[in-house]
Amino acid sequence: MSRLAIQPLTRRDVRRAAAVIAKCTPVSRHLKAAQLKALLKLETNLLLTAWWDGELVGTGRAARVVMPGSAPAHRAPDGWYLLGVNVLPSHRRLGVGDALVRARLAWMRQRTHEAWFFTRRSNEASLALHRPYGFEVVREHFWFPGTPFEEGEAVLLRAAL
Ligand SMILES: CC(C)(COP(=O)(O)OP(=O)(O)OC[C@H]1O[C@@H](n2cnc3c(N)ncnc32)[C@H](O)[C@@H]1OP(=O)(O)O)[C@@H](O)C(=O)NCCC(=O)NCCS
Repeated sequence: MSRLAIQPLTRRDVRRAAAVIAKCTPVSRHLKAAQLKALLKLETNLLLTAWWDGELVGTGRAARVVMPGSAPAHRAPDGWYLLGVNVLPSHRRLGVGDALVRARLAWMRQRTHEAWFFTRRSNEASLALHRPYGFEVVREHFWFPGTPFEEGEAVLLRAAL
């Protein structure tokens, strides 16, 4: 039996998923749990969990994003985005992140012909993780709502599905 399983996030696991995210990125655990609960209700949103030997070790989100009318001219395009993939440091380089990318792209493929994602240009792990799926940098300066990036710190990538 495979040690790795990818499952949709359920309400029962929201707090555990938030704890995983908090161990991977600098966010408030409580803020994230509240956000995850709200996101669970959206049909244009996918929240996945990765389980290794029955332990929740990773999360990944994908969503359709529509830029607000007030967004600046250099806004990222509306579209289907991979948003946040997180794997506990103890379970990295085991293929968990890759399984989360693959599962989210399969979901997106049923809805669109192109996928977007962005990451810090310094995030070698993230860039290498997504490269096999054909992602290429399309913009080096862009605005995306709610991101903690400074202008020019992140790159926007696109892949045909
Ligand atoms: C990025 C992240 C999700 C990768 O998760 P992971 O489970 O370790 O990834 P995988 O084991 O599936 O790796 C698949 C491939 O991605 C690449 N990769 C993953 N981590 C890497 C690293 N630290 N450096 C270089 N390449 C890396 C490799 O090509 C790897 O294949 P290999 O192990 O056969 O060489 C994980 O490092 C993480 O949670 N980082 C913190 C949060 C983050 O930065 N998320 C991305 C934001 S967009």
